[in-house]
Amino acid sequence: MVVASSFEEAVSLIKDRLDIVDTISQYVVLKKSGANYWGICPFHDDKHPSMSVSPSKGIYKCFSCGAGGDALNFLVRIQNREYKEVILELAEKFGIELPKKFAPSSETKTQREAMLKACKKAAQFYNFQLKTANDSNKAMTYLKGRNITDEIIDTYTLGWAPNKHDSLYNELKKDFKDEILEKAGLILKSNQGGWIDRFRNRIIIPIQNENGDYIAFGARAVDEGQNPKYLNSSDSLIYNKSKTLFGLYTAKESIKDDDSVIIMEGYFDVITAQSNGVKNAVASCGTALTAEHVKLLSRYTKSRRVYLSFDTDSAGINATKRGSQVIKDTLATLGDIKQFDESHISTALDNKYACEIRVISPPQGKDPDEFIRTMGGEAFNEFVKEAPLLIDFLLNNILSERHDIKTPQEKSELVSKVIEILKDVNNKIIQTEYVKMVSSVLDVNENAILKELKRTENAYDNHISPKVQKFSVTNSSQFEIKAQKNLLSVFLSVGGSQNYQKLNELLPENIIRDETLIIVKNTIDKLIDTVNNVRELTKNLYTEFIEDDNITQILTDIVDMSEAFNGLDAEELEQTVRENIFRLDRCYSEQDTEKLRKHYREVNNDDTEALKLQMQLRDKIKLNTGDK
Ligand code: CTP
Ligand code: MN
Repeated sequence: MVVASSFEEAVSLIKDRLDIVDTISQYVVLKKSGANYWGICPFHDDKHPSMSVSPSKGIYKCFSCGAGGDALNFLVRIQNREYKEVILELAEKFGIELPKKFAPSSETKTQREAMLKACKKAAQFYNFQLKTANDSNKAMTYLKGRNITDEIIDTYTLGWAPNKHDSLYNELKKDFKDEILEKAGLILKSNQGGWIDRFRNRIIIPIQNENGDYIAFGARAVDEGQNPKYLNSSDSLIYNKSKTLFGLYTAKESIKDDDSVIIMEGYFDVITAQSNGVKNAVASCGTALTAEHVKLLSRYTKSRRVYLSFDTDSAGINATKRGSQVIKDTLATLGDIKQFDESHISTALDNKYACEIRVISPPQGKDPDEFIRTMGGEAFNEFVKEAPLLIDFLLNNILSERHDIKTPQEKSELVSKVIEILKDVNNKIIQTEYVKMVSSVLDVNENAILKELKRTENAYDNHISPKVQKFSVTNSSQFEIKAQKNLLSVFLSVGGSQNYQKLNELLPENIIRDETLIIVKNTIDKLIDTVNNVRELTKNLYTEFIEDDNITQILTDIVDMSEAFNGLDAEELEQTVRENIFRLDRCYSEQDTEKLRKHYREVNNDDTEALKLQMQLRDKIKLNTGDK
C-alpha cells in the first residue's frame, strides 16, 4: 500500500501507473504505426482510425473530432463519470491509500452497497404488488387511464405500495438491517417505536442513477385529497437530488446519438415521452434544475443542445426562464461562450464552445405528458424540430403583452424588458436585426431602442468582472488561435521547458489573446518552478484542467504540436519564438484593419453578402415571432 499525503499526490501516483496504450486498448483496438498507435475514436461516429495514441507523450488525440487528453481523461470521458469517482476506484485498484477525508470508509462503502441492494429489492417488490396486491386495482386503473401499458410498467419498474403499514418492511427485514432500510428512506420509526413503511397507498416510480442502480423513489397519490401529490425520497448516501435526473439511464444513448436533450418537469412527462419515441427526455426529481444537472447533461450532449419542455402555464414559463439562466450560467463557468441567441449549427464550424437552448411549447395540453397522450409522440417531435430559440421564445412572451399597452410609460417598460434580453446578444448583426423587428412590432423608433440598449450595455460592461468581459470580447480566428497554440507549444517542448525563463522574457505583453490560451499560459507559469521536467509539467497541467474537457482538448493540441520542437537548441528555440511573435503581430494588425473595414461596411450597408445574410436573418426572425 502506497500512502498519498494529498488528493493531488494520489492523482499523480495514479497517473504514473496508468499506461496510455493499456488504458485505451481496453476500449479501442489499437494498431501500431511508427512511434504511435491508431484506432477508431470512440467519442464520435467514426469509421476510420483517426485517433492517435502517443506512448511517449502519454496522450491520445482524435484528428477528426478533436477529442484528446491523457489516460485519466480518457477513462473519465469514456465511462462518463465524475473524475473523483474514477480516482477513488483507481486508487483502490493500484493500492494507493488516500487521505482519510477522501477515502470512503469501508463501513460507508458496505452501507452504500446494502442500500442499493435494498432499493432494488424494494422496486421489485412494489412492482410485484402492483400486479398482485388486493388493493392495487385502483392503481392499475389509474395507470391505464394515463395510457401506461404493462410494458411501460415493467420498463420503468413502476409499482404499488399497498395501503398497509409494513408490507415492504416485512418483506425486506429478513435480508437487511433496520438501519439500512431507514437510511435508504424506505421505512420510518413509528410512534409506537416499531418501523413502518415510508410509502403507503401510492404509485411508486423508482428513480435510477445514470448507471441504472435504484437509488430513490417518487410516489404519487391516487386518492382524492391525498396529500402531497408526490412524496419523494430524501437525499441519502446513495441519492443526491440535485445531481440526479429522472430518466437519464434510459435516455442517455439517445441523448448521445441526437446530441441533444429535452428537459421536462415531471416523472410522467418523461415516461410518456420516452415510451412514445421522444427518447432523449429527462426531468429533475421534484426540484428545480441545478448547475449539477447541467454539468451532468453536458457530458452527454457535446454540443450542449438543450430543449426545455415545461408546463405551459405561467409557472412553467417562469421555470423556463429560471432553468435557462442556470444553463447559461453553468456553461459559462465551464469556459463556454454564452450563445443562447444563435443556432449551434450555424456556428458549429468555428465555435465548438456554443450552447443552444430552445423551448418547446406546444399550444395544446398543460404539459408534455398530456400533449403526447392526446396528439402523439410524432406530433411532439414536430414541435421539437420547430422549437424556437430561447431568445425568440422570451421575446415573443414579452411582445405578446403589447396589446395591453395604453401609455408611453407602459410601452417604455415593455421595451426595457426587451432590452434586458437583447443586451446579452454578442453578435451585433443579430442584435440589430432584433432591434429592427421589435421596433416595428411595438411601433417604437429604432434609434431610440438602440440608444437605450447602448446605455444598458455600457452600464453592464462597467460592472462585470474583467474575466467575464473577456468571454465576450475574444473572438480570434482559427488561424490566430493556431499561431498562439504554436507559440505555447514551444514552451512545452523539452528544450522549451528547460529554457523557460529566457524564452518567456521574449514575449511581448498581450501576445496571447485567446481567453483559454491565456489560462493555459498562466497555469504553465505557475507550475514551471514546481516540476523537474516537461513530462511532469504536462502531467500536472492535465491535472489542473481535469474537470474541463475543453481546455484538456486544447492542451492536447499544444502537447502534440510541441513534438516538432524537440531536439532544437536554446538559440533555435529563441528564433522559433521570435518568428511566431512576428507572425502573430502581423495577424493582429491585419485583424485591426479588417475590423475597421467591417465597421465601414456595416455603416454603409453596401456589402451584398452581409445584406443577404441580414435578409435571411430577418425572414427567420419574422417566422419565429410573427403575429399569432
Ligand atoms: N413534484 C413533487 N412534489 C409535488 C408536486 C410535484 O416532487 N408535490 C414534482 C414531481 O417530480 C412531478 C413534477 O414535480 O412529476 C411536476 O409536477 P406537476 O406538474 O404538479 O405534476 P405532473 O407531473 O404533471 O403530475 P401528474 O401528471 O401526475 O398530475
Ligand atoms: Mn405537469
